[in-house]
Formats: sequence, structure tokens, C-alpha cells
Amino acid sequence: MNLPPNAELHDYSPTPVSFRKAVIEGLGQPQKTLPCQFFYDANGSRLFEAICELPEYYPTRTELGILEAIGPELGEQVGPAVRLVEFGCGSSRKVVAVLQDMDVSTYVPVDISRSALEQLVRDVTRRFGELEVQAVCADFTESFDVPGDDGTRTVGFYPGSTIGNLAPPSAERFLSGLRPLLGPGGMIIVGVDLVKSTEVIERAYNDAAGVTAAFNRNLLERINRELGGTFRPERFEHRAFFNGEESRVEMHLVSRAPQSVAVDGVAIEFEKGETNHTENSYKYSLEAFRALAGRAGYQPHEAWTDQERLFSVHLLRVAP
Ligand code: AVJ
Repeated sequence: MNLPPNAELHDYSPTPVSFRKAVIEGLGQPQKTLPCQFFYDANGSRLFEAICELPEYYPTRTELGILEAIGPELGEQVGPAVRLVEFGCGSSRKVVAVLQDMDVSTYVPVDISRSALEQLVRDVTRRFGELEVQAVCADFTESFDVPGDDGTRTVGFYPGSTIGNLAPPSAERFLSGLRPLLGPGGMIIVGVDLVKSTEVIERAYNDAAGVTAAFNRNLLERINRELGGTFRPERFEHRAFFNGEESRVEMHLVSRAPQSVAVDGVAIEFEKGETNHTENSYKYSLEAFRALAGRAGYQPHEAWTDQERLFSVHLLRVAP
């Protein structure tokens, strides 16, 4: 990829070996499961962008509305000349909304999807010609070096309710682990999807056009492509529902019949109706997320929502 002189890309993307290990491990458990970060190969990233445009999928456009509305206020809170580190950025849409109003000297986008990251670097450098961009292709739940550390203050940006993929104890651990990066008095902006009517939530993950189903099944296609798997994706049904007790959407792929699949020489059996649990997406109340942030060592500074209270954006400060 041709990068402009003010942009650099550091590649720590997961290897086929780590993908294989995660798949074999996950499918070997009593409740078969696959880690959701592997949704995002080039095809998966494209499907996710299509999800973001769906009429049923409210999070993306709602968060974008909030970010656009609070941009100037965020800019003021964040202060001058910061290094902005974004976790799981996907497309440039969200950061463009905040870069307009923020004094950022170095922007560090981190994403597991190389194709999405390259597109983002192109978009951002086209719009903000002077901005220094230090892109990192990595699974941000693993440790990696954050570039661009020249003593400037660091601000975290974790939009999209990506934090919802983590169970609350893991979310707490992840946020807590970021405190050294952010430093004393440091800040992070977190997008969090809110609990609401089950109907609205479930519609967002069961769209009429079947894009979410295709996104879910792409994981099987990716295993076939990259690990020589023998999945027949059409033999698995997409299922997504809100689990109220856990306050999360669960996505599964349900085996339509008894079947045997091979992944790189390893045989995996499915009974009829057996599921492969592919994703969790936790939903919070404002209070529940503030409490989690508090346990992770942050002072909840401010939280904004849209008028319908579908989605929230939190500004957290590292507690002294
Ligand atoms: C990118 C994790 C926020 O949980 O809503 C969308 C992923 N999965 N539709 C979400 C997703 C199915 C999305 N996150």
C-alpha cells in the first residue's frame, strides 16, 4: 500500500497459526464458540460496513449523531495537542466526526482488519493532510506497542460499543489495563450501547436483508478459506436474541442437521440444533456502565445520549 509521508502502518496482525489455535480450541468446547474478532477479514469488514447502513441497525448512526453534536465540547475537554489512540476503529466515519473539533497531533488507529485500516488511513490523510497517522494492525485485546509516544498527552477513543463484545469483567480489566497508556488525568471516550426494548435490539441483529446472517456465516467461510475447513455455511442458521439475564445479544450459528466438519485435519461433530456461539454484545444502562468504569479506576466525567436514549458516549478520566 502507498502511504503518504505522514502515515505509517505497523503490522501485528494475527497469524494463521493463532487463528487456527483459536478455532480448534473454541470448537473443542462443550458449547462451541468462536472469538468474534475473527469476523473481520476483508469480507467481514465489508459486511460490517453494510450492517452499519441497515435501517434496523441503530448504533452506528445514533453514535455518529451524538459525536457530531458534542464535538466542540469534546475538543474543549480534551485540550491541546493530544495523541489520539482509537481501538477497533473500522471505518473513518466516527473519528472524522471528532477530529474536526479536536486538536490531535498524532492519530493512532488500531484495528485487526488490515483492509479496513488501510482504507481508514487513506480517508483520514485525505481529509486531514497535516495529521501524523501511526496505524497499528493488531488484535487490541492482546498487548502491542503503541507508537507515537513523544511525551504528548494520550487520549483513548473506543467507539461503536465494541466494548460490548467483552463480558463485563473483561471490559473492566481491559479499561483498567489502559490506564498506564493514558497516564494520570488521562481520558478515554467510550461508545456504549444502551439497554432498551428487546424488540428494537433483536431487530438490529436480525435484519430483513440478511446482512447480519451473512456476516455471521462469513466466519465459517473464512475458516474454509484460510484453514482449509469443510464447512457448508448454508447448513447453519443465523440466530440472534437478547439474553436479558446477561444483558447481552448472543449470536449463534445453529446446525440444521447432524454433520461432521474438518478444520485443518481436525474433525468436529455437530448435532442437529447444536449451536456455535459466535458473538456477545453487552448492553448497559448509564449507571451500570459508570459503575464498571469506576471499578476500572476511572471517574465518569460526562455521558451523552441521543434523545431516544438508544446509545451513549462516555468521557472517563483516569482516577488520581
Ligand atoms: C462492532 C461489536 C459493536 O455488537 O453490535 C453487529 C458487531 N454484530 N451486528 C455489535 C455486530 C452483529 C457490533 N460491534
